Order: sequence, then structure tokens, then C-alpha cells
Amino acid sequence: MLQNVTILGATGTIGLNTLDVISRHPERYRVFALTAHSRVSELAELCRRYQPRYAVMLDTDAAERLRQALRDTDTQVLEGIEALEQVASHVDVNVVMAAIVGAAGLKPAIAAAHAGKRILLANKETLVMAGSLFMQAVEKGGATLLPIDSEHNAIFQVMPARRLSALQDGGVKRILLTASGGPFRKASVDELKAVTPAQALNHPNWVMGPKITIDSATLMNKGLEVIEAHWLFNAPAEKIEVVVHPQSVIHSMVEYVDGSVLAQMGNPDMRTPIAYGLGYPERLDAGVSALDLFQVGRLDFEAPDTARFPCLRLAFDALAQGGTAPAILNAANEVAVDAFLKGGIGFQDIPQLIESVMNSMHIEPVNSIAQLIGVDALARSQAMQWRPSC
Ligand SMILES: NC(=O)c1ccc[n+]([C@@H]2O[C@H](COP(=O)([O-])OP(=O)(O)OC[C@H]3O[C@@H](n4cnc5c(N)ncnc54)[C@H](OP(=O)(O)O)[C@@H]3O)[C@@H](O)[C@H]2O)c1
Repeated sequence: MLQNVTILGATGTIGLNTLDVISRHPERYRVFALTAHSRVSELAELCRRYQPRYAVMLDTDAAERLRQALRDTDTQVLEGIEALEQVASHVDVNVVMAAIVGAAGLKPAIAAAHAGKRILLANKETLVMAGSLFMQAVEKGGATLLPIDSEHNAIFQVMPARRLSALQDGGVKRILLTASGGPFRKASVDELKAVTPAQALNHPNWVMGPKITIDSATLMNKGLEVIEAHWLFNAPAEKIEVVVHPQSVIHSMVEYVDGSVLAQMGNPDMRTPIAYGLGYPERLDAGVSALDLFQVGRLDFEAPDTARFPCLRLAFDALAQGGTAPAILNAANEVAVDAFLKGGIGFQDIPQLIESVMNSMHIEPVNSIAQLIGVDALARSQAMQWRPSC
């Protein structure tokens, strides 16, 4: 049966890779809706090529410009957060790729979960902010959740019953979450102080959007992924170990009680996990080049250094505190990354800002999405007031 696909965040790196995989299988997938924040010409071009029924811009002005650009087409242009929720939960949609960056992706992902869709979850911030509520919505709504983050996709692939929550009964001892170490793996503390946005945006192995690229350089990305793994696989923090593996060939591993360690390997290309999520349980051609082990030559492993990269420790702390702590961590991090990219703070100020916001806010048990959105807003306003000490 032809599957209708909504791509939330279509103009981003994950969105474009998803369209690339879909284009290879026109007999299986049709693009139903494409969404973006404000990049009108990019979305207009994608709409002309893929002819979705709906296109959504978050921004009203941008939506009006897109309407003008697509007035000779059949694509209907919608606007705002409600429209994002609408195309994520529409009765005719089978698959939702959740690839908006940051906390903005939460509400449409929750809408897709309530509506029982197959959700390809790239937006890790949804699980960091609202892991318990999102997992409940997936279960209640009868949705199928497939992790797209390459590490979690790898873990999912090597779990025995190939399902979430395998830690409970699958003989799993530990999850070994691999990390490239980012561009500053070998940098000294003094060198880290002088890092520029251009240097931090230059990831050694992966081509990604700016926010996740900076998160990879600070190791916050790995911290967010630890929290993501906790919710996806029902894994306590002590069963998740971060392993720095600079080649990014092993995308993660699972260790079993009998001593076996299963790894999923491949070139660092997001089309592999995307194709896995789209086709599951079948395998689809993703257009990814074959892994050349002779070219790779060797696989190295190191322990992460949380003294030089405190963001990883902060994420473990937030997971241990529980409740609203991960939502506070996430909001403060988004503000810090934005400020760093705009030249407002230094690279080493990022963890300091986050820690200061985390220490200044009261942690509460999570009870609703509305509460989390309020906590997110408060943490952002605290983060925006933070200034580096001289
Ligand atoms: N890239 C990767 O390899 C990778 C790997 C694993 C997980 N992820 C996760 O996947 C998500 C997307 O990452 P990415 O690298 O594809 O990001 P990206 O390239 O920056 O793309 C982000 C997308 O989200 C849209 N967007 C941004 N802010 C929005 C808002 N407030 N409301 C609605 N839409 C908004 C953007 O629209 P405009 O273009 O109009 O700004 C764009 O379409 C992130 O959560 C990231 O952590 C990415």
C-alpha cells in the first residue's frame, strides 16, 4: 500500500535525507505534507518537486510568501503550530518524520503519537523534555515509534526482540552509546576557550544542522542521547555507557548477560537509519555507499572526558534529578548554543550557563505538556539573562 508521509522539518538535514530515500521508492511512499520554519524558497522548491497536499510554515509572513510562490500549484499552505499538529495527525497520514530541531518539535510529535502514526523520531529534544508523557502518548495512541538518531537506531537494530523496553527481559546488560568525540576531542582546556563557531561547526564525520553540530562539539548531544536512550529502552542511567569512537563506524552496541556484544556498523550517513525506519521490518535501498573495512582500517575507543566536556555530566545529572530537570537542561542548552553561534558567549560558557540555570530553578515532578512548556519558557528567560563572569 502507498504510504503517505509527513515530514516535519523538511528543509533541514534530516528532512532532505528523508526526501532522498523516499525518492528512491516512489511505488511505496508519497509526500503528504512538508513543513519548515521560515526558509520559504527552499520549501517552495521542495513543494514543486514533491507536490505535497499541504505545506506548513511556522511563521505567518513566511506562509504568505510561500502561498504566493505556490499559487499555480495544488499545494495548500497552512501556518502556525496548530497546522504542524494537524499535518502530523491527519487521518490520511501513515508516517511522520519528526525532524524539527529543538523544543519546537514537541507538540507535533505528541500529536502524531496520540493519532497512532508510525513516528520516525529524529527530534531527540521531545524525549529529553517530555520522555514519560511522550512514551505514554505512544502507547495510548497505538503509535509505532522508530528511533532515527543513528545510535538509537543501531541499538534498536541489535535488540533481541527488536522492540523498545528490551532491557526488562531481553538479557541486556548494558547499552554502549558511541560518540565521535567531535572536532575538539584532543583539544586542551585552553584551546577550548578560544574555539570559534566556525571551528565548532566543522564536524569530522557527520553533516548535520547547526544546533546538533554544536551539541556534538560540547558532547551535550551525547548527553541528550543518554536521556533519549533512557526513555526509548527503559534503561537506567547506570546501564548506559558512553564510548568515544572517533571513526563513527560503529553506531552503538548492546552487551548481553552472556558476554556477547552486538554492534551495528555502517558509513556515517543518516539515510541508513531513515531507510530502516521507513521500511521496518523490511530493508530498503538507501543509496548509502558500502562500508569499506580496509579503508576504515582500525576502530578506536576511549572514555569520554567530562572535565573538558562538562555538558555530558550535566545531562547525567539532569537524568538523575528527573522531573522537569531535563526540560530545564534542554531549554538552557538551546539558548546557550544560539548565543554561542551569534558570538554572544564563548564555547566554554555553554556548560556554565546551563549549570547556572539548572541550579537556579526548582525541579518538579512532570504532570503535563502545558507545565513543561511553561518550564521551558522560564528556563529560556533565565538563560537569556545569564552573563559570563569576568
Ligand atoms: N542532522 C543529523 O544528522 C541528525 C542526526 C540525529 C538526530 N538529529 C535530530 O534531528 C532534528 C533535526 O536536525 P537537523 O540537523 O535536520 O536540523 P536542521 O538542519 O537545522 O533543520 C531543522 C528543521 O526544523 C525547522 N525548524 C527550525 N525551527 C523550527 C521551529 N521553531 N518550528 C518549526 N520548524 C522549525 C527548520 O526549518 P527552516 O529551514 O525554515 O529553518 C528545518 O526544516 C534535531 O532534533 C536533531 O537533534 C539530526
